[in-house]
Amino acid sequence: MSTDVQRALRPNGPVVAIDGPAGAGKSTIAAHLARRFGLLNLETGAMYRAFALKASRTGADVDSEDALVALTLKTKIVLESTSQGNKVLLDGENVTDLLRRQEITAMASRVSVHGRVRSWMVAEQRAMGAQGGVVMEGRDIGTAVFPDAEVKIFLDASPEKRGERRFEQTADSSVVAEARETVIQEMRERDERDRNRAESPLRPAPDAVLVDSTSLTLDQVIAKIDAIVAPFLPESLPR
Ligand code: DC
Repeated sequence: MSTDVQRALRPNGPVVAIDGPAGAGKSTIAAHLARRFGLLNLETGAMYRAFALKASRTGADVDSEDALVALTLKTKIVLESTSQGNKVLLDGENVTDLLRRQEITAMASRVSVHGRVRSWMVAEQRAMGAQGGVVMEGRDIGTAVFPDAEVKIFLDASPEKRGERRFEQTADSSVVAEARETVIQEMRERDERDRNRAESPLRPAPDAVLVDSTSLTLDQVIAKIDAIVAPFLPESLPR
């Protein structure tokens, strides 16, 4: 992680980068950190999902980088950090409730393999976090979006545990109720693609702190992560 000199450059406090695969608990932890330390919570996966929704609505070919790059020029995605998580505006429309559908989840992973789509996303995300005071969650925050983040955490868990958690989340949702096997299988496929893509594959930054939540309770994970983050906060923020 970075030095005092870099830390002093951001007016609103540190950038806390949380990366890791689906189902590792990133969103829960990011929401907790945002509440506890008064940070803005930015879920970058929601941006890839919103862009996938746009591709789906416009019939763009998600395997064509050129088609998607053309689409980025006509797309505005805004994340609003709320106590309930992120509100996502796609070209001004609140699409938050449309982004967890299985079809959009799979498409988000597919649009995210393209380098020029990623460059566009990364530029937007850097602008959103430039002032600091944010916890930004995704796959490439510590490696590509903010390689100089003050705090980098890579949150992981065994595939079995993550599949289980993802299934429980999905089953809770009124939007989709899929068979357990389908959810777990889809998560594995998405993971494979996220880890093996050529552009910014999912992997820990060399200076990230690895936290494996497989055999930890949520309270234990929270305690570990609070202890990692707290020293990086300016005195003016709550601890
Ligand atoms: O975090 P999520 O499940 O909402 O992310 C959806 C997809 O977006 C995920 O499969 C990979 C992609 N993604 C990415 O490539 N880089 C990020 N920083 C965040 C998400």
